[in-house]
Amino acid sequence: MNPDWEELLQLATQWVAKYRSQVGSLPVLAQVQPGWLTAQLPAAPPAEGEPPEAWFADLDRLILPAVTHWNHPGFLGYFGITGSPPGVAADLVSSALNVNGMLWKTCPALTELEQVVLSWYAQALGLPGSWFGMITDTASTSTLLALGAARERALPGTRDRGLQGAPRLRLYCSQEAHSSVDKAAMVLGLGRDNVVRVPADAQFRMQPELLAAAVHRDRQEGYLPFAVVATVGTTSSTSVDPVPEIAEVCRENRLWLHVDAAYAGSAAVAPEFRWALAGCELADSFVANPHKWLFTPIDCSCLFTAQPEAFRQAYSLVPTYLTTDVAGAVDLMDYSFQLGRRFRALKLWFVFRAYGTKGLAEIIRKHVALAQEFAGWLEASKDFELLAPVPFSVVNFRWHPQGLDDEKALAEANQRLLHAVNASGRVFLSHTTLKGRFALHLAVGNMETDRKTVEKAWWEITNAAQTLGFS
Ligand SMILES: Cc1ncc(COP(=O)(O)O)c(C=O)c1O
Repeated sequence: MNPDWEELLQLATQWVAKYRSQVGSLPVLAQVQPGWLTAQLPAAPPAEGEPPEAWFADLDRLILPAVTHWNHPGFLGYFGITGSPPGVAADLVSSALNVNGMLWKTCPALTELEQVVLSWYAQALGLPGSWFGMITDTASTSTLLALGAARERALPGTRDRGLQGAPRLRLYCSQEAHSSVDKAAMVLGLGRDNVVRVPADAQFRMQPELLAAAVHRDRQEGYLPFAVVATVGTTSSTSVDPVPEIAEVCRENRLWLHVDAAYAGSAAVAPEFRWALAGCELADSFVANPHKWLFTPIDCSCLFTAQPEAFRQAYSLVPTYLTTDVAGAVDLMDYSFQLGRRFRALKLWFVFRAYGTKGLAEIIRKHVALAQEFAGWLEASKDFELLAPVPFSVVNFRWHPQGLDDEKALAEANQRLLHAVNASGRVFLSHTTLKGRFALHLAVGNMETDRKTVEKAWWEITNAAQTLGFS
């Protein structure tokens, strides 16, 4: 059967509207066990088409119970995200257009809107509007692409010859950098052992003098240092590496500088957070994810570079069937290993047009203020302690009842506390470790998270602490 377009879209929009209006009353964390959904679903596809009402009924019956609701205002784990209405609408349009922007001519609008929206995004953050950019699915992909370009610049011809017999490349990042840096090294054939994790200071920031020393030592030992990844907004503590000093080490040693600002980059849409991007204009490449903290539905990662030619040299490969006779156009496939390309620029475009840079800055400000207020409650409490500064919208803390000082016992107590809070279904927090200490991680990032939500989280946490004992 071929479903009727209008009827189907009506069902879909009604379903989405109902889901979004009720999501706050659903348990944040999926309450099912592994395998639950698989056991409910037929092992084989239906031989005959089924009516749409049946599929939509199964969304409610089978899918929603197995969803952890990132749209829930009480989702306070990892980095909170928002599928904002303009972003969701644009995703629908993108699916309906169903274009593939591998070449300019396969969808001029995709290629050109992507360039324009990336320039808007860079300007909104106070970064060079002249950078070349492309939108990828994730920061992991963006970082991999950037480091692939850096590898080719360091060892021209690696794309053809491979790394056999080549000097051993070394890559540097802080000990707080995201695991996507290691994964890029794995994929690029560098090996994880050649990712040098530079120690961070007491505020979780890379120490540039230790970076310089590591580069110097490696050179003497016969390695070929080629790139540094600095992080603006590390995954655990949201610390900001000193990019200007790191850029200087890169300049002196002719190293590619990639900045990973996946989460915190978007904060700079509010001018008072521009300090976080100081020195980033010196980077060879830079990534920030509007799907993390710019209210754009996943996936949307913005990769910028001051060295587009290095990307072309690393990735351009044109089989006959993809040659074109269009002069003066950018073909995005030349800058990436990916060929097919979804029209992701639409959702960032709609987001900018719906809220404007002022509206976006207001939401960022609200999130940071909520995190600061929560941190204030922790500091005023004798049973909790902050484990890291709070420069943005993330608070790392732990329950530290008086008289309980053994690290292992504290970690266990906090794990039990986290479990109890998350089992409530009303809020969801995640965890990490900071300088070896188990930390509870509360991140404000959803547009709909408000003061009431954060108060509720504080109540759940203190109530669970009381129930578990010690305090
Ligand atoms: C600093 C940082 N970089 C990169 C990533 C990876 O992001 P993605 O899921 O877009 O690959 C994360 C994920 O949280 C992150 O915090």
